[in-house]
Amino acid sequence: MRVGIIGYGSMGKMLLWKFSEAGNIEKEDLFVSNRTESKLEEAKAIANAVSSRELASLCDIVFVCVRPVDLKAVLEDIRDSINPDALLVSLNGSVSFETIRKVIDIKTAKVIPSLTAEIGRSQTLVCFDERVSDKNALKDLLSTIGDVVELPENEMGMGSELVSCMPGFIASIFDVICRSAEGHTAIPKDQIVKMVLRTMSATGDLMLQKDMSFEDVVTRVATKGGITEEGTKVVYENFPETAELLFEKTLEKRRLTTAIAEKNF
Ligand SMILES: NC(=O)c1ccc[n+]([C@@H]2O[C@H](COP(=O)([O-])OP(=O)(O)OC[C@H]3O[C@@H](n4cnc5c(N)ncnc54)[C@H](OP(=O)(O)O)[C@@H]3O)[C@@H](O)[C@H]2O)c1
Repeated sequence: MRVGIIGYGSMGKMLLWKFSEAGNIEKEDLFVSNRTESKLEEAKAIANAVSSRELASLCDIVFVCVRPVDLKAVLEDIRDSINPDALLVSLNGSVSFETIRKVIDIKTAKVIPSLTAEIGRSQTLVCFDERVSDKNALKDLLSTIGDVVELPENEMGMGSELVSCMPGFIASIFDVICRSAEGHTAIPKDQIVKMVLRTMSATGDLMLQKDMSFEDVVTRVATKGGITEEGTKVVYENFPETAELLFEKTLEKRRLTTAIAEKNF
């Protein structure tokens, strides 16, 4: 199976190197293209640097890893050369299958990786248009960077909030907690951050490994009338408003971004 990556930016670079490191795609089957060709020098160690048109004609799976503003130009460029049996994969969540189909009418999927792919623990979202019958080749490929979660197209927005934006939400929430802790202790900041991060990461692993719910953890730690309960009460009483606002704002921004991307396409 030949795999091609159009756009060697943040996402394209990450996918290309991860697919290569996984060891199940040889260099002869891995292709890459980029608008600024000079950026591809390092990629030549693991993939064949070609034009986007050549890549589209040769590959079975064609990832398009460009910004929404550049997507239409790429699709127009490869439209006449793409292998008709290829699976086109867009990394852009805001442009619909219907809109893509107006430019290029071929089997299509959308993929949203998360930052945690860097350590092989992505929760990668994927959705397929109705013409894709064999989903396994793409899913197997994506499993090399972590877990794969298939969703219908209309849930990709909320799905993105939960896995692609979530590392940012989690980081900002715990940043606030660590900053607050600093004001109450002489423990150095970097030590506070490490203690909280390791506890956070271990709590997630504990819940997954022991099949525990959030409630289970709270019950185990926050004994009735104890110190932890004092803190968990504050969170349950005050944080829901912030969480609600977070989703209201991000989902509204997502709707606007989608409308602009569709309008400019
Ligand atoms: N970054 C994330 O965390 C993330 C997560 C999930 C999904 N996404 C989505 O992934 C897509 C790519 O994002 P990114 O962060 O990787 O963008 P990026 O870092 O800006 O990279 C985009 C790349 O596309 C290349 N490009 C632009 N037009 C091209 C063309 N006509 N032909 C070939 N290559 C072209 C650019 O080349 P130059 O070198 O010439 O600029 C650049 O290397 C976006 O749709 C984004 O929404 C991103």
